[in-house]
Amino acid sequence: MRIIKNVLHMQKIALNHIKNGDEIGLIPTMGALHDGHVSLIAKSRRSDDITVVSIFVNPIQFGPNEDYLKYPRTVNKDLEVCKKNHVDYVFMPAVNDMFPSNHKTFIEVKILQDILCGKFRPNHFRGVVTVVVKLFNISCADRSYFGMKDFQQLKILEKVARDLNFKTKIIPCPIVREKSGLAISSRNSYLSVEEKKSSENIFKILKEASEDFKIRNLNFVKKNVLEKLKKIPDSKVDYAEIVDFNDLSLADKDTRKVVFVVALWLGRTRLIDNTVMIKQTK
Ligand code: PAF
Repeated sequence: MRIIKNVLHMQKIALNHIKNGDEIGLIPTMGALHDGHVSLIAKSRRSDDITVVSIFVNPIQFGPNEDYLKYPRTVNKDLEVCKKNHVDYVFMPAVNDMFPSNHKTFIEVKILQDILCGKFRPNHFRGVVTVVVKLFNISCADRSYFGMKDFQQLKILEKVARDLNFKTKIIPCPIVREKSGLAISSRNSYLSVEEKKSSENIFKILKEASEDFKIRNLNFVKKNVLEKLKKIPDSKVDYAEIVDFNDLSLADKDTRKVVFVVALWLGRTRLIDNTVMIKQTK
């Protein structure tokens, strides 16, 4: 496994692999690697000749009052995880190499970036998309792997890859959960013992919603989830919405494949989760 810290060096290595006919898989991360990331690495190892993991806490996707400075940084442990899982390259650029002071180009995805999480985190998706697109170009990736926990991020990146004709194929990967059902996330490390216990309710509530969805109308299911989420101790719900799986528009009674997406605060930690629900046709 090689650790590459320089943007041009990484791109040169990637271009050489492409010249040799290798297919490259990219797993973009902000570090603090967990079993969710390991599942993405494993998927790339099965499909790609070369697996690149990028570790970069991207400053431009954090708002001024968000957790950029306190975001968990566990580089030594991350490198061990990568080595154990047979990653070929870990790309760890410095902030001023990715975003020198004269960097002026940002990518926006109209509407999709302003709804759901985008309403509460202005500029977040502009920052995500800009850095991911740079990572596509630097790594020359044929495939790039994203967890479905960040469902809006996934859909936005799929749209970007299509709209801008990237050769990189976006590969969605299932949410990895703890035994309790809590979706694994680097930010779970912020949760206190009590909050961790409360957070277990989120998936339970979503699972109950999937059952209700089979027999009840969308408004009932949504209202019910909202009420239950609000009852979790110390919670503040940002949103609980049922959206079309394909384009994140609000679902209606005729939408067959929907996603129930939620975002809420538990104390000072913001969590997101979702579940896909498919209407059975009679
Ligand atoms: O999902 C994440 O960890 C980040 O948003 C990503 C895709 C690595 C971009 O910084």
